[in-house]
Amino acid sequence: MASDPKVLVFEEVAQHNKTKDCWLIVSGKVYDVTPFMDDHPGGDEVLLSATGKDATNDFEDVGHSDSAREMMEKYYIGEIDASTVPLRRTYIPPPQAPYNPDKTPEFLIKILQFLVPLMILGLALAVRYYTKEK
Ligand code: HEM
Repeated sequence: MASDPKVLVFEEVAQHNKTKDCWLIVSGKVYDVTPFMDDHPGGDEVLLSATGKDATNDFEDVGHSDSAREMMEKYYIGEIDASTVPLRRTYIPPPQAPYNPDKTPEFLIKILQFLVPLMILGLALAVRYYTKEK
């Protein structure tokens, strides 16, 4: 039974975001670091700011030592259900809207590129015809 990891959902883990109740998600695992807040060499603020999200990148960016990684085991409380973690960063869709208004002038310019020479030609012919008659 002891080897059965508890699977937690993101919604629940994210609620533990206070100094006196702080859970972190790192590499698919959930840690209750509440007893570690005062002792963390990086301070409690960074731990708090790493709550409510997948803190794997934050944790790895610091380049934590092996002893820090061993320490984590003490605070391990379960696995995170990855399907409940909201995606970050990956989805910032490029704004499509500005492209559409751009297409109208482009289209107009293309039509004008045809029409303007035709109009000049027509005008020239008209002038010539008119002056010939005179
Ligand atoms: C259970 C999780 C964590 C444990 C056990 C832990 C442990 C440690 C330890 C032992 C150190 C000292 C340096 C080292 O040995 O690498 C450290 C430093 C540090 N930690 Fe963590 N840490 C955890 C999570 C985090 C998270 C999520 C962040 C978020 C950014 C963070 C930010 C930092 C920073 C910025 C330092 C550098 C402090 C300095 O050298 O000025 N830690 N941590």
